[in-house]
Amino acid sequence: MPSLLSADFANLQSAIESVPNSDAVHVDVMDNHFVPNLTLGLPVVEAIRKITSAMLDVHLMIEDPDRWAPAYAEAGAESVTFHVEAAGAPVRLARELRRNGARAGMALKPATPIEPYEDLLPELDMVLIMTVEPGFGGQSFLDLCLPKITRAREMIDKYGGDVWLQIDGGVSVETIERSAAAGVDSFVAGSSVFGADHPDAMVTRLRELAAVHGV
Ligand code: DX5
Ligand code: ZN
Repeated sequence: MPSLLSADFANLQSAIESVPNSDAVHVDVMDNHFVPNLTLGLPVVEAIRKITSAMLDVHLMIEDPDRWAPAYAEAGAESVTFHVEAAGAPVRLARELRRNGARAGMALKPATPIEPYEDLLPELDMVLIMTVEPGFGGQSFLDLCLPKITRAREMIDKYGGDVWLQIDGGVSVETIERSAAAGVDSFVAGSSVFGADHPDAMVTRLRELAAVHGV
């Protein structure tokens, strides 16, 4: 799914319309505290909701998601992902997101281990393993995250529930195949899609590469 972070913020509607083949639109919310960058917040997500029926995958890179995340579900985002490093009560928050009608996603920065959270899988619809340090688009994919992806895939398979495994950061034609082979089934791509001559063709190309090498 394309990340709007690499799109033209003054033309979000045309950016969304330029990738009709995508499964969802990824919206990066940054608060200048959890990460050293500031993007957009609830009013803009509400505005995006009004102009598209595409699945909205909101990625909250903010402090105190316990307080702020549920409103994004209420605004109609189908998926809301909070960072576990910032959450005070991730179980309560995940339940609240689901109660508000969204899929509940939990994100981990590259240095955050997955093992402590194995027992939370029944509370979650998605685990997002960041493959760059969150905050900016256009960074290089961190291969050191691949073993964690493999372990997360094993945990999810052992649990047996329907939990998507997503990565975000540095996803491109160069990196998507080894990620798919490690067990990723949801891919966020910003600069590789919106930096392409034909963003929608790039979405299709990435999906084909992932499918060939996926689990
Ligand atoms: C980074 C954001 C990503 C970003 C990825 O913190 O969460 O969604 O847009 O950009 P690329 O695909 O360029 O690494
Ligand atoms: Zn993101």
